[in-house]
Amino acid sequence: MRIAVLKETAAGESRVAASPETVKKFIALGASVAVEAGAGLSAAIADADYTAAGAEVCKDPAKGADIMLGVQGPDVAALKGANKGAWIVAGHDPFGQRARIDAYAKAGFEALAMEFMPRITRAQSMDILSSQSNLSGYKAVIEAANAYGRAFPMMMTAAGTVSAAKCFVMGVGVAGLQAIATARRLGAQVSATDVRSATKEQIMSLGAKPVFVENVAGIEGEGAGGYATEMSAEYQAAQAELVSSHIARQDIVITTALIPGRAAPRLVSDAQLASMKPGSVVFDLAVAQGGNVEGSKADEVVIRHGVKIIGWSNTPAHLAADASALFSRNLYNFLSAFWDQDAGRPVLDDEIGNAVRLTLGGKVVHERLLG
Ligand code: NAI
Repeated sequence: MRIAVLKETAAGESRVAASPETVKKFIALGASVAVEAGAGLSAAIADADYTAAGAEVCKDPAKGADIMLGVQGPDVAALKGANKGAWIVAGHDPFGQRARIDAYAKAGFEALAMEFMPRITRAQSMDILSSQSNLSGYKAVIEAANAYGRAFPMMMTAAGTVSAAKCFVMGVGVAGLQAIATARRLGAQVSATDVRSATKEQIMSLGAKPVFVENVAGIEGEGAGGYATEMSAEYQAAQAELVSSHIARQDIVITTALIPGRAAPRLVSDAQLASMKPGSVVFDLAVAQGGNVEGSKADEVVIRHGVKIIGWSNTPAHLAADASALFSRNLYNFLSAFWDQDAGRPVLDDEIGNAVRLTLGGKVVHERLLG
């Protein structure tokens, strides 16, 4: 059983899909590991660290590989020499990279999409969306604080008082919860909103103020797997009105709202940006999925009405070392949970196998990609 760790090739991708720690653990399971030379450099891992962990560092790790690990899906051309039916375990972006998934099928590979991991208790430690979103929520606040020309905490000094920044977090999933906690730690006054009413208690437990639409039909907002659903027109209008009056008084806004399989919901309009004080900062964590904020542009700082709008196409890549360590553990937790000692390789069960498997036996097989 040979596991290959590929160097990422997508622009701006600085993470790596295995760490020396997970390499060691794979070897302890009985696998051999080949790491592409330089794969970890942008995540602060030297080739020598992989070698010390027992890996072979080489130019063509896919040669003879049974399982290939990536942060993003690799190009098929990079997989030359891999064994027939080899697994490609990565964040495949199955809807955005459909042609690549078709190419995997054609080449006879079995692509496993880590972002399709079901939200069940036993799969929590395998969930790349959670591990990466948590870091993104943290980094968004740090970046917003950096771009803000004032301080976050209240300070009473001999020269006068500096007032606390007001920070509003829109969307309270994994990223939003970490954004609230980080902004609180920096001393901001924090408020937050979500369409899922279950988040109200979570917001309060972190010491922030919930801002919620009340008395509108269908305010539960929670669909399958704990994800948000698209809200009614009545709800959206009530939400826009509530947010408008609140946002005008905020210094920092962090937006994180996503709906699986759809474009991100628009939460902040140009008119709402115009109502904010000049010098305010908005960080749009959903920019790569179409954006929560009108006018936000991936990897650019846009200034509208004196408000800085920031959003990155790949936020976890801005914390490459930690993001790689957690991503690598997610992959190890996944593969080791299914490791069959007799077979000397992982054997998936139906619940998780069917959820993550995109291609098998030369065909695209995932129901979300068919029909
Ligand atoms: P997400 O990344 O899909 O969306 C971010 C947040 O935006 C969500 O809280 C969503 O409700 C909110 N949102 C969507 N539309 C909105 C709108 N119009 N206005 C305001 N907010 C809006 O969510 P994420 O981070 O993946 O978490 C969703 C839930 O799944 C959470 O309850 C989380 O705790 C749970 N979860 C469970 C896991 C497990 O059991 N294995 C693993 C990860 C998350």
